[in-house]
Amino acid sequence: MAQTIHILNGPNLNLLGTREPEIYGSETLDDLRKRCERKADALGYGVVFRQSNHEGELVSWVQDAREGAAGLIVNAGAFTHTSVALLDALLACPMPIVEVHLSNIFRREPFRHRSYVSKAAKGVICGFGGLGYELAIEAVAASIAQAKAG
Ligand code: DQA
Repeated sequence: MAQTIHILNGPNLNLLGTREPEIYGSETLDDLRKRCERKADALGYGVVFRQSNHEGELVSWVQDAREGAAGLIVNAGAFTHTSVALLDALLACPMPIVEVHLSNIFRREPFRHRSYVSKAAKGVICGFGGLGYELAIEAVAASIAQAKAG
């Protein structure tokens, strides 16, 4: 059975495609999911792709990922900038974690420049829209391969 990469999306990302398209682009969340599935499949991984508007649900999904995900990709949306609970859950995960944002959070309002998620992430990809998710999958796959090689 293929190893899986879990991809978690936070609040308001269900509105992609119609939400501030000048910032977040015209791709829907479903488009993103398909893109991730294709990319992961090409690298030999399965994908668990989820979105929630609820902080606690995201925390539970991070805990699920601890049980068997080979890697974790997180776009926590606004919880990126606020959630110690999500950070604590991520810090308890042993697998490589990549933080992703569609927009370049550092070109935006100062409150978006601080990320709690970053403290648990191996790296951060932001500003490349949906491509960032594909780059994150490559980064996770490379990190897994690196860890296996010792
Ligand atoms: C976001 C950036 C966050 O600041 C914002 O709250 C989001 C989306 C991004 O993907 O660019 O909801 O994570």
